[in-house]
Amino acid sequence: MSKTIYLRGSILHFLRDPGAEADPAAWEHWDDGALKIVDGHVAAMGPAAQVLSSRAAADVVHDHSGKLIVPGFVDTHVHYAQVDVIASYGRQLLDWLNDYTFPAERAFADPEHAQQIAGLFLETLLRHGTTTAAVYPTVHKQSVNAFFEQAQQCNMRMVCGKILMDRNCPDYLRDDVAGAEQDCRELIQRWHGKGRLGYALTPRFAPTSTPQQLAMIGRLYVENPGVWMQTHLAENVDEIKWVKALFPEARSYLDVYDRFGLLGPRSVFAHCIHLDEIDRARFVASESAMSFCPTSNLFIGSGFFDLDAARTLGVRVGLATDVGGGTSYSMLQTLAEAYKVLMTHGQRLNAWRGFWLATLGGAECLSLDDKIGSFQVGKEADCVVLDWAATPVLARRTEVARTLEERLFALMMLGDDRAVAATYIEGQRAL
Ligand code: GUN
Ligand code: FE
Repeated sequence: MSKTIYLRGSILHFLRDPGAEADPAAWEHWDDGALKIVDGHVAAMGPAAQVLSSRAAADVVHDHSGKLIVPGFVDTHVHYAQVDVIASYGRQLLDWLNDYTFPAERAFADPEHAQQIAGLFLETLLRHGTTTAAVYPTVHKQSVNAFFEQAQQCNMRMVCGKILMDRNCPDYLRDDVAGAEQDCRELIQRWHGKGRLGYALTPRFAPTSTPQQLAMIGRLYVENPGVWMQTHLAENVDEIKWVKALFPEARSYLDVYDRFGLLGPRSVFAHCIHLDEIDRARFVASESAMSFCPTSNLFIGSGFFDLDAARTLGVRVGLATDVGGGTSYSMLQTLAEAYKVLMTHGQRLNAWRGFWLATLGGAECLSLDDKIGSFQVGKEADCVVLDWAATPVLARRTEVARTLEERLFALMMLGDDRAVAATYIEGQRAL
């Protein structure tokens, strides 16, 4: 028998990027709205009076009147194995990896540790209203199994795949071409397309893979249509110099990945700070996507992402926490830092575009916008209920706000996990 539930509250979702000019045709909002969810999928949405009129006596209504219901947040780049690395002092990227990150990732050789942290991580995402993420585990196959097992239990739509690195890292984290290929094949077979899970080929970044490994990844990418490719790109100045020394034949950092066939519509590159026009043109031509990681870029001193340059060209961009380089699991806090990063170079992130970026923009970035990211009828009903009055400061600012836009902006600047009143996964209350 099918199961129907209704959520009532103020409803907002996006149909496309509202842009720098905040085009009102890009969103729909009902102040007293409702969502009808049948078997985990959106069946109807609109004014409460209209949607609720089809209600049968047995159907449950979750009343969130006075709160805001938006599609679940999509974190397009985050490391579950860095739960214990967040807030580590005083290093830029390469030292940060060596001093904090690699030692922490070593522990994921132990499947029990991996399982424990995966559970903790997913619960943390739910508390922050994040319902989908593209996730990095470690080089260990068991870290991937542990993650997908936990994600399957909570029915969250998740993308993940074994980190690949066969050089320039400690022995205890190093794989090799043949072993890594075997692991990837097994993991794809076991997990890709299982329920809501998807597999991503995940070279850590160019410096930690040999050309032979990158070539192997390129072959797997061609052989397995539907899998993702995720990696880091052009984050830090010293990293870029190192890539130049390791791959002297490449025109740019992006060109290293390009030469091995790693660009494409299912490729997601994190950071993308230090790019030139030729790189951006390659993003356009290859339909590759970018993850904007503002808290990480500030915290490890990497630089300032250029959103307008990417969006003006039509490049898909998602928002990302990049924990443990990033400093918050909250996509609201991440939006607040995104706003500040863009302000440094004269770009303004309006609240509409901000909420688009954290929801449908992320879904587009991960090529999941046919399934999640908005309340379009038929999509999977992942959603988050946000409380305008979660803290005294936010409550006060909301009270004096004159428009919905002002309230949304206050929420994105002042909100965090305290503003998350409930999170739903396919219409089931998860928190
Ligand atoms: N570049 C290579 N590995 C990493 C990582 O774990 N975090 C970040 N932020 N950048 C990286
Ligand atoms: Fe990262």
